[in-house]
Amino acid sequence: MKLRTRIQLSTTVVLIILLITANTSIYFIFKNTTITSEQNRLTNISNEISKKIHDKEQNLSVQQILEAHTLSDGLIRVVASNNEAIDQFSTKTDKDYRKIVSKYDDDQFEDVISYKESMFLIVSVPIIHENGAVVNLQLVENIDLLFNSINDLKWVLVYTTIIVSMIIFVTSRFLGQFISLPIYRLIKTMDIIEEEGSFKQILIAKHTKDELNEMAMTFNRMIKKLEKSYEKQEQFVSDASHELKTPLTVIDSYIKLLQRWGKDRSEILEEAIDAIGSEANRMKYLTEQLLQLARNEEVIENEKETVNIVPLIEGTIQRLQQTFQYTIYFNREQSDIHMKIHEQSFIQLLVILLDNAKKYSEDDIDVELKETDETVSILVKDKGVGIPLEMQAHVFDRLYRVDKTRSRETGGSGLGLSIAKRIAEQHEGHITLESAEGEGSTFTLVLPKKKV
Ligand SMILES: Nc1ncnc2c1ncn2[C@@H]1O[C@H](COP(=O)(O)OP(=O)(O)OP(=O)(O)O)[C@@H](O)[C@H]1O
Ligand SMILES: [Mg+2]
Repeated sequence: MKLRTRIQLSTTVVLIILLITANTSIYFIFKNTTITSEQNRLTNISNEISKKIHDKEQNLSVQQILEAHTLSDGLIRVVASNNEAIDQFSTKTDKDYRKIVSKYDDDQFEDVISYKESMFLIVSVPIIHENGAVVNLQLVENIDLLFNSINDLKWVLVYTTIIVSMIIFVTSRFLGQFISLPIYRLIKTMDIIEEEGSFKQILIAKHTKDELNEMAMTFNRMIKKLEKSYEKQEQFVSDASHELKTPLTVIDSYIKLLQRWGKDRSEILEEAIDAIGSEANRMKYLTEQLLQLARNEEVIENEKETVNIVPLIEGTIQRLQQTFQYTIYFNREQSDIHMKIHEQSFIQLLVILLDNAKKYSEDDIDVELKETDETVSILVKDKGVGIPLEMQAHVFDRLYRVDKTRSRETGGSGLGLSIAKRIAEQHEGHITLESAEGEGSTFTLVLPKKKV
């Protein structure tokens, strides 16, 4: 069942049940109060009659008293204990009310009976007759008029219930449409996205703060993110295939050269083997780096451990020092800083920064460890070529290299810093860069301390 129909049906059913309950209550309350007030009126009259019968001073016979109190449309009678009416006076003799069956009871009682298609209210009070016997004084009144108005009310309520139910049915349809409209819009947009493979956003007409608008805004935010990550991925795939194409072209051309001359000329054979070997190595390095970038983040999160990072940095520097032409200095004040990190990724990040400092400078390198109340910072400073200001924002992009020819000579693929950035983010941290062309660069890894 469609949401629209569900909303319509449920509101209609609930409101109709409420309407019927309210109208039925009104009907019964009205019926009870009108009959009770009529009963009270008759009871008062019978009390009056009973008082007069017992009033010896007036010296009136029961017959006379009853005659004096005739009802506008009814019957007053005295019923003996054998259920027989002794005295009775009816107003309209043509309507033979006297035939209404009389019934004696020791206690006062009220009753509503129907006789010849008319409704009667009976109020019966036990009194002591002139002769000393206990009898019932009964007032029987035709209450057709009362029942007519009760009936009228019943039909008014029935008709209003029917008309209001129809109005509810129609308006709840609009309500259903109104509520489900943004959802249908969402579905339509999703359908278009599915069909066209585009990243369309939902139109938000008014910036109200209801849940449906919030849902549309969340959807738009999600689509924007998806679009961005899709673009990034596309960019990455094209960059990566471009990067892999160069070594493959080199290998291909050397193979062709070998096929033509290689068998006879040993110097070509050697050159080709060297070139193919180095290009193959470059491709191997490139694919390893790419795989690193695609590594599952959840695995890294689960493998994090609390480690003292000071000896870890020291050890990494010592190991790298062997292959470095210049000295790496490590300046620190503390010997103990415990952080929750993924050890292998953390070391890899250090190696990336130190490797760059080595590749792009010809001087000593400084590593500094700084601690504040909230953060731990690791600075890697070199006095090398530096990075032009306009390029500083891009060095963290995948496969970006400032000077392609120079980087190619140094064997870079342009993936190092993007991997480093990602590792920093996986530790809720970030990397900042300060650099001036020809003066050197300082890369600073800032990690939040709360993760300790
Ligand atoms: N310390 C530095 N000094 C000067 N330039 C740098 C420095 N570090 C990085 N760069 C520039 O930023 C670019 C991107 O660095 P990144 O480490 O991502 O790639 P790469 O070093 O070229 O290759 P690899 O993937 O092997 O690290 C480099 O090509 C280089 O031009
Ligand atoms: Mg690098």
